[in-house]
Amino acid sequence: MVISKLGIAASGIDAKHDSMSEILPAEEAQTRALQVLRAGKVVAIPTETVYGLAGDATNGDAVARIFEAKGRPRFNPLIAHVADIEMAERIGMFDPLSRKLADAFWPGPLTLVLPLRAGAGIHPLVTAGLATVALRMPRGFGAGLIGALGRPLAAPSANSSGKVSATTASAVDADLGQRISLIVDGGATPVGLESTIVKVEDGALRLLRPGGVPAEDIEKVAGVRLLRNAAPGIEAPGMLASHYAPAAGVRPNAAEVLAGEALLAFGPTRVRGADRAVALRNLSERGDLREAATNLFSYLQSLDCVGAATIAVEPIPSSGLGEAINDRLARAAAPRDAPVQHS
Ligand code: TXA
Ligand code: MG
Repeated sequence: MVISKLGIAASGIDAKHDSMSEILPAEEAQTRALQVLRAGKVVAIPTETVYGLAGDATNGDAVARIFEAKGRPRFNPLIAHVADIEMAERIGMFDPLSRKLADAFWPGPLTLVLPLRAGAGIHPLVTAGLATVALRMPRGFGAGLIGALGRPLAAPSANSSGKVSATTASAVDADLGQRISLIVDGGATPVGLESTIVKVEDGALRLLRPGGVPAEDIEKVAGVRLLRNAAPGIEAPGMLASHYAPAAGVRPNAAEVLAGEALLAFGPTRVRGADRAVALRNLSERGDLREAATNLFSYLQSLDCVGAATIAVEPIPSSGLGEAINDRLARAAAPRDAPVQHS
């Protein structure tokens, strides 16, 4: 760990292994954190639950960098963190029960899944293309930072994929220090486990993930019992294959475009038959996986809209973010309504 006193330029995630992150105490970190976030880079921040790996939720490149830094093999939908209820209302559509829970528990370790408001500006990589969005108003440093930025922050827990969530800045540094440029040190997180996630479904309230707010406390405020996920292993509805699937079939790793197919391309050269594709979008002309990740959900949606029965997808390397991109494509290609087990 190196605490840099130099005002080095924000480098975000650096592929070089000799990069080191700057660690700043929360009291002095806001200006620097804003600089990093406005540059579309990521910063590890303390919240009351666990440290979050935060990026501007409206910037697809920043969100792709979050997944890249975590080395996540798949694009789970992320929580959008807001500064206040007004920002939350601009992003999600509140029903009365969700609003009651927000009033009771925000700021705090409760996340609400709500229908996404049209034009909210949340990048589709945050919601993994879902029509819903997970919203949370954190306490402490994050709230002030988001208010100053004036934009929501996407922030999964600041740990690499498969590791436990970090609750101290030094744990973040030990795990991700080589991959991110700034860690904000706010001491040990008081709650120490992730937020509770709930969602109103047809007037009932479902617990999607137990967490920092006890279920009983939520039930007391809501005046109803929480429904629990029947199938163990399904962490949240966002994990169901069907929620990820476009209406069209998806044919990953296509060596050729067949009659009537739309084509999701990648890189500078086209597969055979590309000229007969009924529609074509290129995830990244220059073959850049971060750019491809940023475009994935919106391009799948736009190709789905042309009404082709199948979307053929050119081969995409599985290094770096390519693993998550290929996971998403494989799940879109899988039989519909199959629950996806969480690994
Ligand atoms: O305490 C926390 O919640 C921490 C801090 C940093 O805020 N964040 C966190 O984020 O735990 P993450 O990305 O590790 O977990 C987000 C969870 C995932 O289980 C994901 O499936 C679920 O939220 N989720 C996000 N959007 C969803 C949606 N639209 N529908 C259902 N589940 C959703
Ligand atoms: Mg996590």
